[in-house]
Amino acid sequence: MAAAQKQPVVFTGAGPLNGAVSGVLTWVDQRFPLMSLWRDHLAEYYAPKNFNFWYYFGSLAMLVLVMQIATGIFLTMHYKPDAAQAFASVEYIMRDVPGGWLIRYMHSTGASAFFIVVYLHMFRGLLYGSYRKPRELIWIFGMLIYLSLMAEAFFGYLLPWGQMSYWGAQVIVNLFDALPVIGPDLSTWIRGDFVVSDATLNRFFSFHVIAIPLVLLGLVAAHIMALHEVGSNNPDGVEIKNVKDPKTGRPVDGIPFHPYYTVKDTLGVVVFLIVFCVFMFFMPEGGGYLLEYNNFIPADPLKTPPHIAPVWYFTPYYSILRAVTEDFMWVLAAGIIGYAVLLTMTVRNDLLKLALFVATAIAVVLLFRIDPKVWGVVLMGTASMIFFLLPWLDQSPVKSIRYKGALSKAALTVFVIVFLILGYLGTLTVTEGRTLLAQFCTLIYFAFFLLMPWYSRMDKTRPEPERVTG
Ligand code: HEM
Repeated sequence: MAAAQKQPVVFTGAGPLNGAVSGVLTWVDQRFPLMSLWRDHLAEYYAPKNFNFWYYFGSLAMLVLVMQIATGIFLTMHYKPDAAQAFASVEYIMRDVPGGWLIRYMHSTGASAFFIVVYLHMFRGLLYGSYRKPRELIWIFGMLIYLSLMAEAFFGYLLPWGQMSYWGAQVIVNLFDALPVIGPDLSTWIRGDFVVSDATLNRFFSFHVIAIPLVLLGLVAAHIMALHEVGSNNPDGVEIKNVKDPKTGRPVDGIPFHPYYTVKDTLGVVVFLIVFCVFMFFMPEGGGYLLEYNNFIPADPLKTPPHIAPVWYFTPYYSILRAVTEDFMWVLAAGIIGYAVLLTMTVRNDLLKLALFVATAIAVVLLFRIDPKVWGVVLMGTASMIFFLLPWLDQSPVKSIRYKGALSKAALTVFVIVFLILGYLGTLTVTEGRTLLAQFCTLIYFAFFLLMPWYSRMDKTRPEPERVTG
């Protein structure tokens, strides 16, 4: 009764259906903040009016997340997380479960689509400086999503229990073996056995179907909440909240997310689904990039495949891992000393200088005392996590690439090329020439980040406009 006496929320609309809908909405709104959620996050969330192509990928990432969870639920109904049955249960899904092949291909193509969309989404962040103040937390939540996504894909890849599933997991878990002191115990603990086995499959299954998806959903919610707290960036890198209409208090360069961007994003969804369907229906294996050919052979612990490579979205990091050879330690040592000299020139405090000198000396000694394999793992891990530091490494006075100068533009271009080369090299077997190229690219990869505080400051930028330019 008390709820009914509250000020009614007005839902307009004529006709009996609209009347009924309004009635239900009013009933709900008196008990749950449905309309305020709708208003705050869609109808009255003012987004910059100049979003372009690069702004499609956030909503597409949400679409793929939902698709992966939905198809995953149906796969789980028929999949058997048992080393003796897993491979056959996937074949059963493909051949005997009605529509099973479709669900499986949606899920396997979806995994690659997820990474394509997320890489493009991250690239947009790099283009427009979306990681800069006040959006550092959006970026950090994004990076945590990215790492969780990699864990999710890694755990999921073991489940079909093919040769590549088995040996891929074996290689990656064995990397922990190289860690000093705790390594061997740690890798046995991760596997639950001395080799990848049924116990490993069971725990990877539970991480893949429940633990990581829960973490992902929580992180995506945090990502969007942080975004809606500070507002979206845009291709000009201008803060639209700085120029508001004095009468309405709304950003002059903002437009309501709904209907403007819901309509725009729908176009993105349609185009994305067309491309997705072309791959899913006509080339679900994607030339061995989406589903590796070796994975159509059941796992055989007694037969190591001649060429083990992870799926394409991990290969840039895999290349960095393989680039770290014994000879490369000299290059790394020279790099560390050079970087320390550069830092020393910018530090005024003598105590800090001394600390830097000691840290460099310890690092160089450790470099030669510890197995290069360990440094490979360390470099691979650092390469995937160094993105976390971008908000603080980028010292440019402007956010967007539009107003940055030649130095930043060249650095980003070279970084993208190097990332692609590393990705490609990671799919190939090693040769001397390829290792040299991977080592060169690894150095450029890290230089992009570590030298950013200098080149982003030295760069000749143009002043950011006050209002968005379109
Ligand atoms: C499941 C994965 C993800 C989902 C569902 C997601 C979703 C979204 C959505 C819907 C937006 C707003 C629309 C847009 O700007 O495109 C957004 C913005 C943003 N995302 Fe993500 N995201 C994901 C992963 C990531 C990752 C991995 C990063 C970076 C490491 C990231 C960084 C950002 C940033 C910086 C913004 C603000 C962009 C701006 O305002 O210019 N996101 N995200």
